[in-house]
Amino acid sequence: EKGGHEYFMLKEIEEQPEALANTLRGHFESGRIILDEQRISDQDLRDVDKVFVVACGSAYHSGLVAKYAIEHWTRLPVEVELASEFRYRDPVLDRDTLVVAVSQSGETADTLEAVRHAREQKARVLAVCNTNGAQIPRESDAVLYTHAGPEIGVASTKAFLAQIAANYLVGLALAQARGTKYPDEVAREYAELEAMPAAVQKVLSTVEQVRDLGRRIADSKAILFLGRHVGFPVALEGALKLKELAYMHAEGFAAGELKHGPIALIEEGLPVVVVMPSPKGRAVLHSKLVSNISEIQARGARTIVIAEEGDETVRPFADELIEVPAVPTLLQPLVSTVPLQVLAAEIARARGYDVDKPRNLAKSVTVE
Ligand code: M6R
Repeated sequence: EKGGHEYFMLKEIEEQPEALANTLRGHFESGRIILDEQRISDQDLRDVDKVFVVACGSAYHSGLVAKYAIEHWTRLPVEVELASEFRYRDPVLDRDTLVVAVSQSGETADTLEAVRHAREQKARVLAVCNTNGAQIPRESDAVLYTHAGPEIGVASTKAFLAQIAANYLVGLALAQARGTKYPDEVAREYAELEAMPAAVQKVLSTVEQVRDLGRRIADSKAILFLGRHVGFPVALEGALKLKELAYMHAEGFAAGELKHGPIALIEEGLPVVVVMPSPKGRAVLHSKLVSNISEIQARGARTIVIAEEGDETVRPFADELIEVPAVPTLLQPLVSTVPLQVLAAEIARARGYDVDKPRNLAKSVTVE
């Protein structure tokens, strides 16, 4: 049941703290990260020399986020690729390659075929999946389940946040196996993840502010999303949510690319959502983004800024400021995505669309 909500998606947005807590639970015992199923040896995990993340849609965005953490923690090169592209080129795979297949349903045809291709080439496959016993985990060498619970809304919300957390656990498991992180460092990273359900709970206090904003900008022709570093995939995810729910033209950009083309799109009244990094965690990127915002505002854009609470430098350039709690840089997507989910859902509702069943889309895409 929708639990008193107008649409399932809002209920699922509000379930995100619980989805995160359930995904973390049981995956760190006696000081070690534990996978749910492991049919490869610890030695094989240690020997991994390259990682691919393959997935579609939001799951792909969760991989883009995780690349920053996995490379940082393991010093392994990580490529993130759309499953539908991966197997139609000739990716360089061997027994020391780990392919992480991320799929909420575990039945997505493109991701399943990517898994089969990887295994034919002798790569090891680790599935991150929300559905117990689905085809993708069945055909994988190792599995880490996201315990987000069933997701009814076609637009992924709680499964997406859970995928980010699970991908991070995969990164820590690899760092642990390879010894690129000491046990106490792994424990510290895990403790930071464990603090995230409470941080996401705090973000939920912005829901009414964002719904109100959504209603005010619902008749826009297009909305742009900008971010940098881990904020870039968040921008992509915000744009995808808006396309699929509100049938509105939306695009996510890396803010550093603005001057290489996208700034030409800025016109009077165009809403531009900017995902800010922390002024403390990423000071250099923060100041570059502040100058991006001032440039687009000067060209008439309506700036909607998602920023860390207490970030005063950004305030003068924000036509609308949505504050999220301060969290470590790599974990920011877990808080900054939430307002973008609410924004897309509310714009869709204001335009009279069915938020839970957007046109032309199925929850699980089992054909290529
Ligand atoms: O079940 P999967 O995680 O494999 O699904 C992948 C995509 O189809 C899915 O994330 C889709 O993009 C969502 N509708 C996005 O909200």
